[in-house]
Amino acid sequence: MQRPLFRKGVMLRCVSCGALYEPDPKLFRCPRCGGLLEVVVPTEGVSWSSFRGRGVWRYRSLLPLADEVKPVSLREGDTPLIRCENIEEYVRRRTGRAPRIYVKFEGANPTGSFKDRGMTVVSTIARELRVRLVAAASTGNTASSAAAYTARAGLRMVLVLPRGKVALGKLGQSILHGASIIEVDGSFDDAMKAVMEAVEASRGAIYPFNSFNPWRLEGQKTIAFEVAEEIGVPDYVVVPVGNGGNISAIWKGFNELYDAGLVGKKPRMIGVQAAGAAPLAEAFERGLDKPLFVEHPETIATAIRIGKPVNWPKAMRAVRESGGRFVKVSDDEILDAMKMLGAREGIGAEPAGASSLAGFLKLAEEGYFDEGDTVVLIVTGHALKDPDSMLRLSVDRREARSSEEAVRMLLSMLH
Ligand code: F0G
Repeated sequence: MQRPLFRKGVMLRCVSCGALYEPDPKLFRCPRCGGLLEVVVPTEGVSWSSFRGRGVWRYRSLLPLADEVKPVSLREGDTPLIRCENIEEYVRRRTGRAPRIYVKFEGANPTGSFKDRGMTVVSTIARELRVRLVAAASTGNTASSAAAYTARAGLRMVLVLPRGKVALGKLGQSILHGASIIEVDGSFDDAMKAVMEAVEASRGAIYPFNSFNPWRLEGQKTIAFEVAEEIGVPDYVVVPVGNGGNISAIWKGFNELYDAGLVGKKPRMIGVQAAGAAPLAEAFERGLDKPLFVEHPETIATAIRIGKPVNWPKAMRAVRESGGRFVKVSDDEILDAMKMLGAREGIGAEPAGASSLAGFLKLAEEGYFDEGDTVVLIVTGHALKDPDSMLRLSVDRREARSSEEAVRMLLSMLH
């Protein structure tokens, strides 16, 4: 008999019609209505003391995989939660109020983004299923992470990328880890469409690592567990939104802790989008309950340059149920936030990662937060991913024609 892949009691549920299904690792849409699926994990008997070890697999008792299954892991998760007192002071001076600000630095994951939390779970599933080929569309970070984890698992990986729109570090990582790469003339949304169609046409032979695969989001929900275990449940969690998978995963994580009786409250979820790629933020501002898809999304934050977010129903639900909101920020605001994190707190974020701070600052100026509120900003990816964006930032930078001139310059800087 084959050993079970999933824990007892794990189910799939349609987020649109509520239908329940047995856990099938290759079911990605509700057979009844076509809706997105989410994983239901039993929370009875889960206690803080049931968590052992470090990182994503510390929370194994709330992950859907059976205990006997050996993970494909790079020791992902367990990322630093960093109090940002310099930014707190800046906000206090600008607005007269000082919420407590923490950054959850997901750039500290093995491949430099939060994606690793999800890839450890799906690559474990794909290895157990012995799938022939794994595919993912990506703006870059999913690609880097999927390439690394499939390399480790001994799986074949093909990445579909929007040509010319992937940041240099991410493209380099994808090549380094040996994935096959298809670059399409088009946007991320075109790449995603191609992957979805190929998965469908292959009848399960191609296994997708994108976030419409609900099993991947199970790994990402551990962001919530780590935050709650370290500082309790914050008042707000601010998350950069592209496809909307991560914000919904984090919201799911807090709900599971609440259902298990491990925490007594839930945070408000704030989704941040770049102004040129803001289908959810635009809809939210107009009071609509469906996104306003963007045909030609454009932003310096290439990671979230997405016009048709596949997980929009889940992302919308996370924001509405939690009593939070969406907010959109300009590219200049993103670059200012990136510079603030880098130059005031020593935290290196890529543009999409810094957009959580940009969204926070915008709302703080509007008086959205109260004195004493605790706010966690998810900084989703590392600055090294995107060297070009770092080089756009201005700094005091001079050239010396000789070492003697450099000495004179150094000494002059004392004044
Ligand atoms: N931040 C970064 C750095 C990302 O790479 C992404 C998504 C997001 C935020 C948004 O997360 O899609 O779950 O809402 N990057 C995907 C990729 C699209 O292909 O790497 P989401």
